[in-house]
Amino acid sequence: MPQTAFSNSSVNVYRTAQEYISARKLFSGSLGFVPTMGALHDGHLSLVTRCKAENQKTVCSIFVNPIQFDNQEDFSKYPQHLEQDLNLLEKVGCDWVFVPSAQEMYPSVPKLKFDFGALEKVMEGKQRVGHFNGVAIVVSRLFHVIQPSVAYFGQKDLQQTIIVRQLIQDLGFQIQMQVCDTLREENGLAMSSRNVRLSTRARNDAALLYSTLLQA
Ligand code: PAF
Repeated sequence: MPQTAFSNSSVNVYRTAQEYISARKLFSGSLGFVPTMGALHDGHLSLVTRCKAENQKTVCSIFVNPIQFDNQEDFSKYPQHLEQDLNLLEKVGCDWVFVPSAQEMYPSVPKLKFDFGALEKVMEGKQRVGHFNGVAIVVSRLFHVIQPSVAYFGQKDLQQTIIVRQLIQDLGFQIQMQVCDTLREENGLAMSSRNVRLSTRARNDAALLYSTLLQA
């Protein structure tokens, strides 16, 4: 069985594409994939739970993708607690976890540029220039390594789901995509790894935005 480099968790962790692909080759059933950047919350875990219910094996990736950040401070402050994440994944019965390093994912700086046209000229894509290029590059690389039958994404990142659907279609990935419901905190705030960085005031304002939208 594959190794785990982490003391308190027995989940099967792969650090390199080569290690992962050796295990993947031995499995021919349906494989569900949940890509993440870690700092897992109940929203992520609900994706893993659904993935488990619909596939014979579930694999999750944890990689804070540097090339999808348009802001260096946002990248350096992105919450990371790998050991806790692995324990959570173990609890919900995730079979495999792929945790590559930046060097493993990008042995050289990618030169490829995705252009999703009008799809990325609005909303988050308009505010965060280059963000969806970084997402598309990492998701493509992950799909090549993981070779899933089905991939699960949260509806919270609505524009991302539209871009990834386009990516799957344009590059001909033989992968089904499932978009899963957003999980919310009690006050209505969508669960997100970045919520820990919000002040009490910002949390309340965010909840107010949601309730106002619902009323509208
Ligand atoms: O939604 C995310 O967490 C990320 O954008 C993803 C899909 C894991 C790519 O880094």
